[in-house]
Amino acid sequence: MQHKRRHLLSLTDVSDEELFRLVETASGYAAASAAGAPYTKVLAGRVIGTYFKKTSTRTRTAFSAAALRLGAEVVAYGPGDLQENTGETTQDTGRVLSRMLDGFVVRTAGPDREIAAYADQDRMSVVNAMSEGEHPTQALADLTTIQGLAGEVDGAKVLYVGEGNNSAVALALALTRFKGTELTVLTPEGYGLPEGTSALASAYAEASGSTFTCTHDLVDAPGSADFVYTTRWQTTGTSKADPKWRDVFEPFRVDAALMSRYPGARFLHDLPAHRGEEVTAEVLDGPASVAFDQAENKMHSAAAVLEWCVVG
Ligand code: CP
Repeated sequence: MQHKRRHLLSLTDVSDEELFRLVETASGYAAASAAGAPYTKVLAGRVIGTYFKKTSTRTRTAFSAAALRLGAEVVAYGPGDLQENTGETTQDTGRVLSRMLDGFVVRTAGPDREIAAYADQDRMSVVNAMSEGEHPTQALADLTTIQGLAGEVDGAKVLYVGEGNNSAVALALALTRFKGTELTVLTPEGYGLPEGTSALASAYAEASGSTFTCTHDLVDAPGSADFVYTTRWQTTGTSKADPKWRDVFEPFRVDAALMSRYPGARFLHDLPAHRGEEVTAEVLDGPASVAFDQAENKMHSAAAVLEWCVVG
């Protein structure tokens, strides 16, 4: 068994070159798939575990389908399956599974240190399939979608509207590293990106010649955008302390009026969606929406992640 595998716990662990390569590889899988070509079996003989402690339609299926299409076998664990439920530590769980699996894809929706504990071994790659703080593989699907439509990520102008949640964190940590991009994160007051994320994204943007702006005021929305992106107001596994939180989110709904400010812009959504909350049905199901292509790209980017982690 090959040792010292790569992990994808956070996009901050990935160099610019590795990030660009992951998006290129995912885009290659997407293009090949569109042409009817199967994935090459680069994971033949490997075994990938998936452990989703929280609900998932896209990410769980994307990693399972990608692993199977790449020739791996998949062992799937649900939230009640492992001895963690009877008190075995996360670290011991990672150490044991690393003796049997080549890769382990985990959704905790809990603290990021929980995922890091599974990676405290050097035999099995660990992939963050969404933790409380970051959803790194979502951003890879987002950028693969942008590249597929625009031909490249460099120069893309993205307006993100909604909550500064783990998908927004990952987007900020990824898009700002591509040359000449413009990312505006428009969130209700009190629901913005964590300070640490904003500081890192600003530094990435400065290094890449990009712009990164956070604002809470709709009048500060940019004059132009290639992509308008929103996510569910209640991220999986979370709740908001303020019972009146909906009042402050209402003006941040993506509707036809907002989209009309950006002629030709495509609409992105990580899904699942709540039509009538963060986005109107007219926009999500309308001609500008590429949300379901974006969902498919979760599988192509999962393939890129598994190949990068497990094969090298
Ligand atoms: N976008 C996303 O992570 O979807 P799931 O929660 O269905 O995996």
